[in-house]
Amino acid sequence: MTSVSSNVLSAQARGLGTKAELYKTVMDQLQSLIRAESDWIANLANAAALIFESLPDLNWAGFYLLKDGELVVGPFQGKVACVRIQIGKGVCGTAAETRKTVIVPDVHEFPGHIACDSASRSEIVVPLTREGELIGVLDLDSPSLARFDDEDAAGLEELAKVLVRGKRRDRRELKQDRCID
Ligand code: SME
Repeated sequence: MTSVSSNVLSAQARGLGTKAELYKTVMDQLQSLIRAESDWIANLANAAALIFESLPDLNWAGFYLLKDGELVVGPFQGKVACVRIQIGKGVCGTAAETRKTVIVPDVHEFPGHIACDSASRSEIVVPLTREGELIGVLDLDSPSLARFDDEDAAGLEELAKVLVRGKRRDRRELKQDRCID
């Protein structure tokens, strides 16, 4: 048990930190990671790695991005995944279509679930929207049943908001932050 996520899990199991505190820590780290960087894909890549390493009991964490009317896999951590998902299909396509976070306690009970890693037992998908428009989804899988709850939804939705806001930052704002010409 040497990984960051295992350490976090054991800390939580010992009552050393609440889930809300964990999400606050992840948020602080995400903000400092993306503060001075405007490249959307770079920020999604680091966000996927941060989430995968920080939150316990995950086997996949990453993004699907809306391209030409379908979801295409973006930066992620975990086993290789299906590349394209149609809007309305699977858990990702359902969250994309409804623009609402979907929590699936048991993926085998979700009609149309798309299995990328047979180890996955539960899943949460958070839509990424900008001014009401869908731009992608954040998808987390766990090998445990019922791994995700409303606190995860709230924490991940906040992380998603910060990422989407980061996408909007233009070069001028970045220069001001860095105090460069
Ligand atoms: N299970 C997802 C597909 C993506 S993978 O979990 C990485 C779905 O049903 O949409």
